Amino acid sequence: MASRIKRGNQARAASPARPARRGAPAVLVVHGPNLNLLGEREPGVYGRVRLKEIDERMVLLGRELGMTVTSFQSNSEGAIVDRIQAARGAVDIIIINPAAYTHTSVAIRDVLLAVGVPFIEVHLSNVYKREPMRHHSTIADVAVGRIMGFGAESYMIALRAARSVIDTPHA
Ligand code: DQA
Repeated sequence: MASRIKRGNQARAASPARPARRGAPAVLVVHGPNLNLLGEREPGVYGRVRLKEIDERMVLLGRELGMTVTSFQSNSEGAIVDRIQAARGAVDIIIINPAAYTHTSVAIRDVLLAVGVPFIEVHLSNVYKREPMRHHSTIADVAVGRIMGFGAESYMIALRAARSVIDTPHA
């Protein structure tokens, strides 16, 4: 399967020091619209793994990596904005697959910049192998990095990358 791993090198969300909390670093995983249908939805593109299984695998891998992982899915842009606002000062890093909102949402870009929590953009599919409308991301240039094209494994790679970002914050 083709794949891409890219690190944003332009403007970037502010990356403040870790929130002053004790305990394991906290990761918030945000899934956008229609990802609740994973496993049934276009399996030739997105695979047969269900979202619940991805979330469970992330919790387990997070435990191995010494991080707590919380997941959130919504089909609504406003609910995603509200959840990211609530993460301000409460999580160390966000892993986000905004799904179709990747290509359209200024509101999600704005809230990610507003909260100043570093984030990694994830996609199951390699969007560059798909329709041109999917080639644009409103958040790519402010992400720490982007991972796509590995199916459900994209999230696990992102979680390992999140550990690395927490351990070695990049300038
Ligand atoms: C997606 C790619 C988007 O273009 C699409 O709208 C999705 C899923 C992915 O994970 O490959 O819903 O973000």
